[in-house]
Amino acid sequence: MSAKKIIIANWKMNPQTADEALRFVQGVLAQRLPKNIELIIAPPFVYLELLKKNCGKEIKLAAQNISWAERGAYTGEISGLMLKNLGCNHVIIGHSERRYIMGETEEIINLKLKTALRIGLTVILAVGEKEQNDDISKVLSRQIESALEGVGVSEINRLIIAYEPVWAIGTGLADTSDHALSAALLIRKIISRLYGPEWASDMPVLYGGSVSEENAADFIAQNGIDGALVGGASLELQSFIKIIKAAEKNE
Ligand code: PGA
Repeated sequence: MSAKKIIIANWKMNPQTADEALRFVQGVLAQRLPKNIELIIAPPFVYLELLKKNCGKEIKLAAQNISWAERGAYTGEISGLMLKNLGCNHVIIGHSERRYIMGETEEIINLKLKTALRIGLTVILAVGEKEQNDDISKVLSRQIESALEGVGVSEINRLIIAYEPVWAIGTGLADTSDHALSAALLIRKIISRLYGPEWASDMPVLYGGSVSEENAADFIAQNGIDGALVGGASLELQSFIKIIKAAEKNE
């Protein structure tokens, strides 16, 4: 488990202007941020440089995507080295919108993850079942095993896993904190099987899917859950600040 609770804002394809992005970050920085949290914002690529200049040390940045290729003729792609050189050290890989809307296969996710780790980025790997009655043990095993195929134990300390049941994303229908905890424990069990028990307990495992100012504390308070990956509620400044404060209460 991570020493600090981790809160990640996934802005997806929002906001539409750099000005709004900047004002949001300034609004967060105007708060007294709790010492026990690691705050990461994943804006669209086009705002990364601006936000890097304005985030100070309190907020880290994540990209929402990365090319599996390191450099070269790949029109429209963004490389991991470009991200690193901007001072962006995290990247989300395997988000369900990329898997199921943009058609990313498990093979692509594995290639992206290996490229990101090789370049020195920290990967936030999103996994989760599509339907509430899916066999989650089977789904999580398959997604984690395929994403980490060929990844050695020396690189695994730069991995964060976010349990994000697809049915809970953007629906307002969050998982229960008990079920999310059991999924997080399942994820640790899979990591233990692949890399050994010490990695399983050290690895940060987050919950994501309709996290809100009302329910954030329930997830973050769980001992086996290291924080939250927040979509919709991370676009509304006051809600997001309340979610950050919810993590503080767990000090
Ligand atoms: P949501 O999105 O909080 O809007 O459900 C979470 C995510 O997609 O990471």
